[in-house]
Amino acid sequence: MSTSTASVLNFSAGPAILPPPVLEQARADILDLDGTGIGVMEHSHRGAAFTKVIEEAKDNCRRLGDIPDDFEILFLQGGATSMFALIPMNLLAAGQRADYIHTGAWTKKAIEDARILGDVHLAWDGTDGGFRSLPADDELDLPGGARYTYYCSNNTIYGTMWSTPPRSDGWLICDMSSEMFSRPIDWTRHDLVYAGAQKNLGPAGVTLVIIRRELLEQSRRDLPAMFRFDQHADKGSCLNTPPTFGIHVMGLVFKWILEQGGLEAMHQRNLDKAALIYDAIDASGFYRGHADTDCRSTMNITFTCPNAELDAKFLETATARGMMNLKGHRSVGGLRASTYNAFPAEGCRQLAELMGEFASANG
Ligand SMILES: Cc1ncc(COP(=O)(O)O)c(C=O)c1O
Repeated sequence: MSTSTASVLNFSAGPAILPPPVLEQARADILDLDGTGIGVMEHSHRGAAFTKVIEEAKDNCRRLGDIPDDFEILFLQGGATSMFALIPMNLLAAGQRADYIHTGAWTKKAIEDARILGDVHLAWDGTDGGFRSLPADDELDLPGGARYTYYCSNNTIYGTMWSTPPRSDGWLICDMSSEMFSRPIDWTRHDLVYAGAQKNLGPAGVTLVIIRRELLEQSRRDLPAMFRFDQHADKGSCLNTPPTFGIHVMGLVFKWILEQGGLEAMHQRNLDKAALIYDAIDASGFYRGHADTDCRSTMNITFTCPNAELDAKFLETATARGMMNLKGHRSVGGLRASTYNAFPAEGCRQLAELMGEFASANG
């Protein structure tokens, strides 16, 4: 059912579950890619076999995401965290300002890095509310004249997710690390979106960046090559040796999502999966969801039992049934079920069933 053994359900927030058929294919390709007699990790990144891998990955990414021609697809390294710095380094010149919507620990880190490099304005700050909610458009303070507006579409730790992109000023930039390709993306609104791979897209070590060419044209040139978006684009993500295995697996994941019916189908599946668990929370009178109901995530479902002892007992009970990694992030506590694209609906049903039984026995 899950990745490696049939008896385990992996609810990890990341690195997280990958589709079993992708892992099967990757296992074969580790030994022999495409009948070349050489494994995918052993091919030169300049050779024909890997060139085919990266070109196919890009093509499938564009097809899957319905990405317009004026966007470039980059496979970078350094994780999502490197983007916290690279975005202001490339896009914010002296005297320019960026507006950040602060919705949790990951935007906090992005804001801290951007402040080193430029002028940052907080358009909204959810700290006092414990990051349970997201702002409505009319709550955003956008004074005008920003180079870009930055937000995080799915807040992995708190389980909040934007249903539509926020109002913005300048370019709109989004950290989609924990939800990329869980649903369609509105390209008329976004100018740069990115994600670390290790939740919905593949193994840790690759960062997918989808950037409008206008931003590449206007990005700063006074940076070392490795930190320049335009250099990576010019060199087809092979400026240096790229994470070849990670790119290959990501390409297989794109293909797998396409085979599942694409992003609309995946979105519906994710909504249905999440509803099984949210219904169990709402029906119980026992569990409390962390996120406000109007901004609940389909990817990370956060909730608590009536007290910490019961949280611990729930975890123990779930683990004994093979439901692994349900512990909430240390900053929030409680429980978190991460139900990324590859997570099976049957696993959500099993968790909901356990939640019902546990609430009856302990309520
Ligand atoms: C929304 C979000 N942004 C950024 C990160 C940081 O990712 P990385 O470890 O790839 O730097 C995470 C990791 O969990 C995340 O959930």
